[in-house]
Amino acid sequence: MRLGCRYALAMSDIDRRTFLAAGATAAVPLMLKSTPASAATTRGDWRREARRAGPVVISSGNGLPAVTRAMEELQRGADPVDAVVAGVTLVEDDPGDMSVGYGGLPNEAGVVQLDASVMHGPSHKAGAVAAIENIRNPAQVALRVMRRTDHVLIVGAGALAFAKAHGFKEENLLTERAREAWLKWKENLNTDDDWLNEEQHLERDARAEMAEQLGIPWHYGTIHCAALSSAGDVGACTTTSGLSYKIPGRVGDSPIVGAGMFVDNEVGAAGATGRGEAVIQSCGAFQTVQHMAAGLEPREACLKTLQWIADHTKRRSLLTGAGRPNFNVTMYALRKDGKWGSACMLPGGSFTLHDGTEAKRLRSTPLFE
Ligand code: GLY
Repeated sequence: MRLGCRYALAMSDIDRRTFLAAGATAAVPLMLKSTPASAATTRGDWRREARRAGPVVISSGNGLPAVTRAMEELQRGADPVDAVVAGVTLVEDDPGDMSVGYGGLPNEAGVVQLDASVMHGPSHKAGAVAAIENIRNPAQVALRVMRRTDHVLIVGAGALAFAKAHGFKEENLLTERAREAWLKWKENLNTDDDWLNEEQHLERDARAEMAEQLGIPWHYGTIHCAALSSAGDVGACTTTSGLSYKIPGRVGDSPIVGAGMFVDNEVGAAGATGRGEAVIQSCGAFQTVQHMAAGLEPREACLKTLQWIADHTKRRSLLTGAGRPNFNVTMYALRKDGKWGSACMLPGGSFTLHDGTEAKRLRSTPLFE
């Protein structure tokens, strides 16, 4: 289902300076600078424009502490990949955020399994871990994979053994709050499993709705964070506890380089939160960076990827009656010239930003109203 008018809106760009100078607070509507199509940036022009480089940090809606910390690190001269990992570590450590790290919602067996990836623009190196248990900071382990191995992705027991070899401490990541949420899910949805036939997909949508009504946390929560240093280098990280109550071993988009996160130091970074299966099937972050390389503004690039996902969503259980995706994905993009943007499939997505002055939470632009 195409939404021409929504996409036309994407042709405008947020005027970052105006927005930030206005001292806008969280939840203030986006302030748009109208850019006539004829005056819109033509392909590749941004590379020739005067650099409005970093430091800039962008993150998902739950990333306010992350952007603040990452900016402090950048201002101290840290590499952007170290800065974003320091930022997301705060959120991984926070038991109140049930989408990531310690206190993240567990899989269907009640075990917390975490995914994370990192990417370093200047060297184009990446590292990731998936389905790692008992280690609260998978982003830091992903950084070790990048720096201390010749691999990109290590999973499961191998990832845990690798982390322990590097001195990470094992601990139980299931907080009481997360255990109770899981138990409630188990007791109320006891015919539940993730082995679905076509009809059961429909039933699953109803279950998600029921879980919402019962107040059972249910999500694909994640934190993505990307940073641009004043030297113009880019780094990014995405870390998550993944889809709540997933089949043990299920891996989402977050640790998949090119899906949940991607960096091209000549272009910028992109990341995703939301339904990981859709992001994997679209190479979401890679695609978004490619759209920026082709000349799109960051928010346009995010919208174009979301439109691609919508166009390629065929499964009936994933579509509304109007033929639109019934799940959310939020994309985040940070370009090498300091421009940034975010868009979501459905209303409700948000992102956080630090431009060196202050940290803010802003609304992502929905593709579908
Ligand atoms: N985007 C997080 C996940 O699907 O695991």
